[in-house]
Amino acid sequence: MSPTLVPTLSTNPGDTPIYRQIYDRFLAAIAQGNLQPGDRIPSARALAKELGVARGTVELAYSLLHAEGYVQPQGQAGTVITPGLLATSVGKTPPVEHTALSTGPTAPALLPFQMGIPALDAFPRKIWARLGARQLRATQTVDLSYPPVNGLPALRTAIAAHLQVARGIHCSPAQVFITAGYRESVSLIIQTLLKTSDQVWTENPCYPPTRELLQHAGLTDIPLSADAQGMDIAKGLTLAPDAKAAIVTPAHQSPLSVTLSLPRRQSLLEWAEQQQSWIIEDDYDGEYRYISRPLPALKSLDRHGRVLYAGTFSKVLFPGIRLAYLVVPEALVSRFDAMSRILGNGSPALTQSIVSAFITEGHFARHIQRMRKLYGERRTATAAGLAKVLGKAMRIDPQPGGMHLIARLADRHSDTELAQRLRDNGLYAHALSRWFSGATHESGLLLGFTNIRSQDEAEELGQKIRTLL
Ligand SMILES: Cc1ncc(COP(=O)(O)O)c(C=O)c1O
Repeated sequence: MSPTLVPTLSTNPGDTPIYRQIYDRFLAAIAQGNLQPGDRIPSARALAKELGVARGTVELAYSLLHAEGYVQPQGQAGTVITPGLLATSVGKTPPVEHTALSTGPTAPALLPFQMGIPALDAFPRKIWARLGARQLRATQTVDLSYPPVNGLPALRTAIAAHLQVARGIHCSPAQVFITAGYRESVSLIIQTLLKTSDQVWTENPCYPPTRELLQHAGLTDIPLSADAQGMDIAKGLTLAPDAKAAIVTPAHQSPLSVTLSLPRRQSLLEWAEQQQSWIIEDDYDGEYRYISRPLPALKSLDRHGRVLYAGTFSKVLFPGIRLAYLVVPEALVSRFDAMSRILGNGSPALTQSIVSAFITEGHFARHIQRMRKLYGERRTATAAGLAKVLGKAMRIDPQPGGMHLIARLADRHSDTELAQRLRDNGLYAHALSRWFSGATHESGLLLGFTNIRSQDEAEELGQKIRTLL
């Protein structure tokens, strides 16, 4: 039912009669487009119950709406807004200005080269549907209540076991907090451990939402350039040794895809231990390395409980799932427990139970292995296809892992302009320069390859890019 009909009706003496208020609300809902021609309206009995008025009062409003042609009874099918009725013909209520429904910053459709989206065509939907149906059937009454704010114990346990085997991280299920995505994990950390104007080291370039989150929280971002060994820790020690935290993407620097070298991992851990600062490890696609085996997580080297590990299901399953996790050091469990209780969000129990079964029954590990192989192939095919068509106009960086390629442009091209032109023409690219903070930046296009299925497809798309250069 339209929420516009729910607010309390006015019963003060001298006010508009109640049947008339109900009638006016329907007219307003039609005029504003919240009720469309053909939409079914609630039965008089149901609406009377909901509004706490006599059924006859609603029937009176309905008969007026019917008499004026706004609604039509359709026998068994109930009563509907008159098909073909134009919202503009509902003249009595001034139309309300609506803000357009926003879909957020990312394009809702799946566009070629869109970044950060796994191979959606290769997701095992049959298995997912089977597990989903099973979990639904097994739902008990109690499962319909609020889920635990920190996540379902079964999922927390499954993640702890997976991380031990796959990423070398030893943690107990109590250290694992389920969130609705990486940003919720970082927000939870900020709210629990940091205070306004604390300094935080970030990589330069950096995943833009990380910087936005820090800025929004009033933290002072200290961008440290990333080179072939990852974040420049020595620079951090000089510029802001007292920083309270560092956010890093050690497995594949985002977006350069370089790996944080072992000496730098060690000096970062040493600094955090000495300063009692925190390291936030964003391991968004650590599983996807194609040259050699995936490197263990930075968290696996954390002997003093300074690393908070943020993982997400967006890359290994699919982003629509909106499920991620945060592993906190043992000593912080009670503080994070307390903060999650205050925030009181929690994630959908049904989704969590499906993911938990997906992991414990071995589908997760199998899927990662299959995707690692597939992405290795798609990456090679995409790079080869683009290189063949674009030749000297672009150079593709050789990267050991990740889910996107970096196409370096010949000097005369602006990456922001080209990225915009690609987007205007049904392709999707990020301009590398936009990921940098400060005046110095590199230029290039960030191109997701995971949904490009063959070299032919890459060549075809490359031709399209060539016409846009
Ligand atoms: C660097 C980086 N971190 C984290 C994430 C994961 O974000 P989420 O869990 O909101 O999908 C992404 C996704 O694109 C990313 O690129």
